[in-house]
Parts: sequence; structure tokens; C-alpha cells
Amino acid sequence: MKTTSDFIKMKNAEKISMVTAYDYPSAKQAELAGADMLLVGDSLGMVVLGYESTINVTMEDMIHHGKAVRRGAKNSFIVIDMPFMSYHLSDRDTLLNAARLIQETGANAVKLEGANDVFDKIRLLTNAGIPVMAHLGLTPQSVGVLGGYKVQGKSREDALELLENVKKCEEAGAFSVVLECIPMQLAREAAKAINIPTIGIGAGSDTDGQVLVYHDMLTYGVDRVAKFVKQYTNIDEPIAQALINYVQEVKTGTFPEVKHSYTMNESVLDGLYG
Ligand code: KIV
Ligand code: NA
Repeated sequence: MKTTSDFIKMKNAEKISMVTAYDYPSAKQAELAGADMLLVGDSLGMVVLGYESTINVTMEDMIHHGKAVRRGAKNSFIVIDMPFMSYHLSDRDTLLNAARLIQETGANAVKLEGANDVFDKIRLLTNAGIPVMAHLGLTPQSVGVLGGYKVQGKSREDALELLENVKKCEEAGAFSVVLECIPMQLAREAAKAINIPTIGIGAGSDTDGQVLVYHDMLTYGVDRVAKFVKQYTNIDEPIAQALINYVQEVKTGTFPEVKHSYTMNESVLDGLYG
């Protein structure tokens, strides 16, 4: 299994591939595909549980899905999101929640969104021995404050702030930082500003790695996807067709066939019902 120091070494040597996983099959597939890291993202609230945003996601949701991901990907470095409000109340609360996520799921690191007070939490957890991935730019748990899912860091003031904040993530001890939905030029500068790898999503090609949401890249049950998503396939189409065929075949009696059925010696039943 890769380690945080492997990821830091990969910066400037090799791009880091990361994809989200939320359950046993997706984790198994991502590990087999050779993804460098898996993310149990709180995006599971939207793509798996059908919530409007990630702020409904609970610790129990994260632990339930995180456990399944570890069962599917025994040899992968797994990062798990700390859900909304699980790292803001107190240091004690933050430590206990991060410890639960790591101990109960077997994940290797936690991810925290945001700046300001969050830097202290990154330091707190790192000092306690828990590797932390930071997350800047568009931080979906703050969608209410940001006023929607919009590109971040476009003004000079916001760009300078983001560059300061990536440095603060590194200083606080984060081993990596996700940059979500920022201009590619700003992401390029951010990657140069620090010695820990940047993982981009909607941040162009000059980050040190990329992450995409499993359901978005496969077109699996999502209503619409952001501009930054490349849809590598449309898995909805074959699934929809298969389900339609199944329903039809049940109705017409063409499924199941003898080959899907078990047989016995019919004489055993002789005379049973007059
Ligand atoms: O929850 C998630 O999927 C994420 C990625 C978008 C980085 O945080
Ligand atoms: Na997330």
C-alpha cells in the first residue's frame, strides 16, 4: 500500500490518480484499475443517497460506506471525508470523530474542507497521528455561504488568498490538498507554491493529481454533471436497457429458461397431488 510520503514523492515525478468509491463493487473496481488513492467522499450524500447537498451527510453514513470501501479495496490508500460539522465544534469532538472514521472503517487519512479555523484542526489531527488531506477552492459543505456551486479564486484578491491558504495547509501538516473548481492558471501557481501534492477537480491539468466522482465519470444515476467532468462512459444506458428487458421477459414468461432452473427426478413427485 502507498503511504503519504509516497504521494509527496510523486509530486514532480508522476501524476496521482484518485477516484471516489462508496461501496464494495466501486472500491474493488477502482483498486483493480490501479487508482493511486480512493476517496470516500461525502459526495455520497448526493450521488448515492439522493440528498440535495453534502450537508445532510452524517458520521454514521460515512462509516457505513467507508467500511464497505475498505472491504472492496484491501490494498488501497483510502481517504475519507469528515462530514459537515464533525470538525468545527471543539478539538475533542474533532479528534474523536476523526479517530472513529479511521478506526471503524480502516481508512488511512481524513479530508477536511476549508481555511481559517480549519488550519488548527489540520494541525491538531496531524499531531495526533492522523494524516490529513486539505480541500480548498469550492468547498461544497459551505455552499450556503459561497452562494452556490461556482468557480472560486477568479479575482486577484481571491487568487492571492487561495495561494496563501495552500501554504497554510502545508504548514499545518496536510500531506496533500484538493483544489476544486478554480481556474487552471491559479491551480498551476498553487501547485508550484507548495511541496505537497495538489489533487485537482475542475482545476485544469497542472495539479499534481486528479480526482473525479465515480458516478459522474461513469454517468451512473446522475441528473447532470459539472463542466469539469469527463464522462468516460454512460453506464446508465446498458443498465436501463437490461432492466427494461428483464421486466418484459418476466411479464412474457421468457425468463427464466430451463438453464436458469434446477431439476429433479420427476418421479419423486408421482401421486403427491392425486
Ligand atoms: O466528496 C467528494 O467527492 C470530494 C471530491 C469532489 C474531492 O470531496
Ligand atoms: Na467531499
